[in-house]
Amino acid sequence: MATELLYQKLLLIRAEDQHWSFLHPAMATYPPRSCAPIPFKVIEEQEDHPSPRRIEDYDNFISTLPLEKGWVPSRKYQGFWYPEGFLLGAMAIQQRFKARPDDLFLISFPKSGTTWLKALAFATMTRKQYPLARHPLLSLNPHDCVAYMDELFAIGQASKVEALPSPRILATHMPYSWLPDSVAGSGCRIIYIARDPKDALVSYWHFIVERSRSPQMKKIPFMEAFETFCEGKVPFGPIWDHSLEYWRESLKRTEKVLFLRYEGLLEDPVANVKRLAEFVGCPFSEEEQEGGMVEEIVRLCSIENMKSLEVNKDGKHGPIYPVAKSSFFRKGTKGDWRNHMSLEMARRLDVIIEEKLQGSGLTGWSSQA
Ligand code: PPS
Repeated sequence: MATELLYQKLLLIRAEDQHWSFLHPAMATYPPRSCAPIPFKVIEEQEDHPSPRRIEDYDNFISTLPLEKGWVPSRKYQGFWYPEGFLLGAMAIQQRFKARPDDLFLISFPKSGTTWLKALAFATMTRKQYPLARHPLLSLNPHDCVAYMDELFAIGQASKVEALPSPRILATHMPYSWLPDSVAGSGCRIIYIARDPKDALVSYWHFIVERSRSPQMKKIPFMEAFETFCEGKVPFGPIWDHSLEYWRESLKRTEKVLFLRYEGLLEDPVANVKRLAEFVGCPFSEEEQEGGMVEEIVRLCSIENMKSLEVNKDGKHGPIYPVAKSSFFRKGTKGDWRNHMSLEMARRLDVIIEEKLQGSGLTGWSSQA
């Protein structure tokens, strides 16, 4: 079975690692038991899960919600526009998902650095399990290591989320106010990544228009995308409310909610990866730091490296909106908005953002610098 082969391969990688101290005969069982996250793909390929099934009650309710056909058909629910395909999953999560205290959630507004964050968090938390030279991220796309849980719930595969051994790393674009009470109640951790909305918009537009070629995503001119973005009517939008909810929670619960910025990661990836490691409770030892472990993780997860890997060049990802794996890696820079919008447009969007964030303390997020 493909899963067993993959798991055997992962075990072999671990077994060959001299520093892998807790490789015990009990580990050689299937499914895997581990004290670090495992790549989601291992679970995904298990065959003993029910096939996708729709949840009729939710479907009927969703069809009554306001519809925005724009980029991807989205429905307005509890203050946010959510892609129809994912909304079912988000609602099922609200009803049924139980967080575990050692869960880690990676959350973002789309095109804000989620793929990068998934790779960095997964590599950091599994660094003792896999030597970086033969790490699962070299043969699996970051989205195959850390899954979007609303996607799984939407296609009736919540059991896969349950089947993941602890500690789990799960991702979503859900707003904070939508998360079930068990997330805050369990004391698990959240890392949120935010990006200059102008660059997130440009990245989003390229993703939908030029790169992903998902049949459900409509090709639209940039000017139209800009207007919709300013109105906040984009899938998972408005971006300002999305980020503001996590920002406020990160101020209230600093131990449990970490607010990262894409631009900060670009500027000083090493410092941010150290911060991430401390936050998730696996700080780098002095020995690791002196040995260049942090820099190696940054290199492994760099966009240049990710783009060069065969696994990220071909094939599609996503059961609901299938998109080219390569579409998750484009420029990976800041300020690309300059190539798409006039200064006047940039100012207009910045003013909207400033007004929405006024008094929140979330500053310097959207800038023309
Ligand atoms: S998604 O669809 O929400 O998961 O997309 P997301 O990953 O959030 O955003 C995609 C943008 O992130 C860039 N990217 C990276 N930047 C730096 N380093 C790494 N490793 C990396 N991986 C992806 C990607 O190129 C998209 O930004 P743009 O501006 O389009 O280049």
